[in-house]
Amino acid sequence: MFEALTAKAPDAIMHLMAMCKADANPDKIDLGVGVYKTEDGATPIMRAVKKAEQLWWREEETKTYVSTVGNAAFRSAMLELILGADMAEKYGARIASSQAAGGSGALRIGAELIVAANPNAAVWVSTPTWANHIPLISSAGLKIETYPYYNRETLGVDFSDMLDRLKSGANPGDIVLLHGCCHNPTGADFSRAEWDVLAKFLPEHGLIPFVDLAYFGLGRGMEDDTYGLRKLIESVDELMLAASCSKNFALYRERVGLVAVLTKDADSAINAQSQFGAIQRKLISMPPDHGAALVARILGDPALRAEWSAELDEMRDRMRSLRAQLSDALNVQGGEVMAAAVKDQNGMFSTLPLTKDQAVALREMHSVYLTDSGRVNIAGTTTSNIPRFAEALLSVL
Ligand code: LMR
Repeated sequence: MFEALTAKAPDAIMHLMAMCKADANPDKIDLGVGVYKTEDGATPIMRAVKKAEQLWWREEETKTYVSTVGNAAFRSAMLELILGADMAEKYGARIASSQAAGGSGALRIGAELIVAANPNAAVWVSTPTWANHIPLISSAGLKIETYPYYNRETLGVDFSDMLDRLKSGANPGDIVLLHGCCHNPTGADFSRAEWDVLAKFLPEHGLIPFVDLAYFGLGRGMEDDTYGLRKLIESVDELMLAASCSKNFALYRERVGLVAVLTKDADSAINAQSQFGAIQRKLISMPPDHGAALVARILGDPALRAEWSAELDEMRDRMRSLRAQLSDALNVQGGEVMAAAVKDQNGMFSTLPLTKDQAVALREMHSVYLTDSGRVNIAGTTTSNIPRFAEALLSVL
């Protein structure tokens, strides 16, 4: 039977990780997969997570099953973190949620919920978007459409082209996938004014936002990074969100995420809640608990929460400082647009105007690893490798 299988092309980001690992050059620069790194190239466990693990090791009394929708304390703490302390009062009865296996699991459960509610809805994604968005969502059986987003000349958002495309192509009931902050792969986010426009535009056209918050806390701070989502939720009847704890809690391998939906009324939320349980059951039965228990422990303990928040601030500040340093190094003749964009953009990534051949040349001639589309993981740069990276980059352009 298995002779019938054909080989699949490797996932671009995973393949890049493997190529970089295999490169013996001690000066290689890894700007590939989206993980946070220190100046030494390490991805440490956060201090608050380590402490929560020690506490949890003593407190945890059983490893029996939790529930198909996961840990209730995790779900409510995350919703409060994302939507504000008055979340339950404002929207509680209209929200259904489920713990998920990472942000990817959250997106997939969300896609299955859309299929259950309206299998004819198309999901509109930005061009470009995270490489796994399209496979994850389309394999649930949904049609994908694209809207223009990143202008590779200005390195900014083509907001009016995006609105024009949605106006002319999208049907009421369609879903618009939006990156809540730290757009992956470009780093170019909507301004507050653009979020304000979207908060009117989407309900006017009967479009339902699905906000992906994979990097919140790592852009400009928790308040700024959730501005768009909070603005939308005040203005629309229905909304979906997928959040990840992979990056902001550095819990990558624990697979911790949350999917939630805002419905028009409380009865629909009760039905959506039961759908979440049934969807997770048929996919993986139940989400893994360990990471979610740690997040619940941290967010529910004022001292641990303050420690986590301070460490997140350190990570974010370091990335902003790396952006400023890289921007200075690129601010030479021919590099000005890149220099301005890199400084201004948010989160772990920026997409630079490189061709595939130039990305390959960086890899083969300089041991600099970034995706063929020109996506750079800013957290992989360091004060000591930025001069070499900038020189290599300018030499291939
Ligand atoms: C990335 O975009 O590099 C990360 O989200 C890791 C992944 O799974 O692709």
